[in-house]
Amino acid sequence: MDGNGRWAELQGKKRVKGHEEGAEVVKKITTYCSKNPDIERLTLYAFSTENWKRPRLEVEFLMKLLEKYLKNELTVYLENNVRFEPIGDIRAFSKSLQKTIKDVKEKTAHCDGLVQSLALNYGAQDEMIRAINKIKKCDEDITETMLSNALDCNHNVDLLIRTGGDHRLSNFLLWQSAYAELFFTDTLWPDFTTNDLEKIIKNFTKIERRFGGLK
Ligand code: IPE
Ligand code: MG
Repeated sequence: MDGNGRWAELQGKKRVKGHEEGAEVVKKITTYCSKNPDIERLTLYAFSTENWKRPRLEVEFLMKLLEKYLKNELTVYLENNVRFEPIGDIRAFSKSLQKTIKDVKEKTAHCDGLVQSLALNYGAQDEMIRAINKIKKCDEDITETMLSNALDCNHNVDLLIRTGGDHRLSNFLLWQSAYAELFFTDTLWPDFTTNDLEKIIKNFTKIERRFGGLK
């Protein structure tokens, strides 16, 4: 979800306004996905392990926004049968934010519709290191299955979308995206619509995926 800051600056507003607008788009896209039975899982990159490098005030704003978003969204998750499954190392967050994250996770655990994952203090390299540390004590050789199961997310990515014009993965789901179809759009995240998503999904379904095999 890239481009919040630029979206705000283009309108002469503070960067944080872009984050607020971005959170609204998260709601719309999540609701849309929850109504599409072909979409099992939606993972949104909300805060990376590298985002701590931003100015303190922006980081603080993002933390508050996240807490507000989660508290407000609980009823919407429940209404739409959405299960919330955070990924990332949330131990770095305040006790209160950790509690909110765990609370929404527990309260939506019974929902069996869309799984919405928010990547929170998430970095794929950090995820892999934490996974390796979890399994390194066993005597056997580590297998792909063992590592996959030890990751925060053990699902392969089918379709990966990056908004905001840059063509990079920025430490997002690197292991899980081994065979992901990558879509990049110049649209800034606050301008991204369900219509844009629909078009991308349409193009995605036309792709013949061979996973390294032959037709
Ligand atoms: C992405 O938008 C949102 C987060 C990382 C939380 P940016 O804040 O990176 O927006 P730009 O790239 O500066 O426009
Ligand atoms: Mg950015």
